[in-house]
Amino acid sequence: MRKRHLGKTTLQVSELALGTWGLSSDGYGPVSQVEVDRVIDRAIAVGIDLFDTADVYGRGDMERRLGKRLQGAGTTFVVTKIGTDLDGLPPTKRFDPAYLRTAFERSQERLARDVVDVVLLHNPTVAAMRDKEPLAFLKELKQAGKIRAFGVSAGSADVARSALRDEADVIEIAYNAFHPGDLHEVAGDVSESGAAVLARSVLAHGLLAGQWSADREFYADDHRVNRWTREEFRTRLRQLDALRPLVTGAVVSLRSAALRFVLSNNLVSSAVLGPRSVAQLDQLVREAGMPPYLRGTALMELAERLKQAGIEGGAA
Ligand SMILES: NC(=O)c1ccc[n+]([C@@H]2O[C@H](COP(=O)([O-])OP(=O)(O)OC[C@H]3O[C@@H](n4cnc5c(N)ncnc54)[C@H](OP(=O)(O)O)[C@@H]3O)[C@@H](O)[C@H]2O)c1
Repeated sequence: MRKRHLGKTTLQVSELALGTWGLSSDGYGPVSQVEVDRVIDRAIAVGIDLFDTADVYGRGDMERRLGKRLQGAGTTFVVTKIGTDLDGLPPTKRFDPAYLRTAFERSQERLARDVVDVVLLHNPTVAAMRDKEPLAFLKELKQAGKIRAFGVSAGSADVARSALRDEADVIEIAYNAFHPGDLHEVAGDVSESGAAVLARSVLAHGLLAGQWSADREFYADDHRVNRWTREEFRTRLRQLDALRPLVTGAVVSLRSAALRFVLSNNLVSSAVLGPRSVAQLDQLVREAGMPPYLRGTALMELAERLKQAGIEGGAA
């Protein structure tokens, strides 16, 4: 497993990270507890040392499980996210320092770590980012030695830019061949600040694996049920043709091409994977390949094909 610098921190982390949203049964439908533990154990066994979670995933269950499974697993790093109050009805976003302190202490306990490696604000809006107190609070935690790095999981380029200007060590952002624009928009700010980028949704929630038929149905509690209209879904499947020419030689599948696209970007410290089984994890680790993940000419040609397919902000 190759390592990359976690931005300007002193940490080096595996360039593939295990994300735990899909394992939590919250976003994509149920996963058995046995399989969750097997996936975490397998990730450790293949050399993944970076684990991405949030206090809300499984209402804390993912943090608890990581806390248990990572004990005795050697050096591992955990990224968690706080800022969603599930106790209210409906749940609300809360980034005031008093709430963040309680949330952090709960996460710390569930993760069974005195020092939590990375803590991010979980999807704040641009308006929420205007308040400087939340990141200042995380900075204080860092100065007190309770966390190693802080930042924001950003749902847009504007939020990411704001976090970078406020000296975030880490941003987590959606980045994939169909959604390259947010990272490309803030690439200059990332380079200038030296912050780490954790790239999530590298398969565009599974779409880029290229294994779906046009009549694919999603379970009612799967977030993808409302993500695309039937027409948008068909368009997305057609747009996959822009990726197909990448599948040649060592690039054995669309899944491999999608993952290599993300790993080709040197701004990315780690690609946060979302496997929901050991089989999926093994496929991803095997097919990530090694540098050069995709050649420069292949990336340039891809950018042109994506543009022609109507996907803005094509590959850099
Ligand atoms: N706001 C945030 O902070 C935020 C938001 C989203 C994600 N994340 C983090 O990033 C992680 C990954 O995000 P994501 O779920 O959007 O990732 P993703 O990789 O784009 O999508 C995950 C989906 O891809 C499919 N998949 C995974 N491995 C596969 C394989 N080997 N072959 C074919 N399909 C495969 C699975 O779909 P099927 O279920 O259909 O098999 C899985 O549910 C999350 O677990 C979480 O840790 C953070």
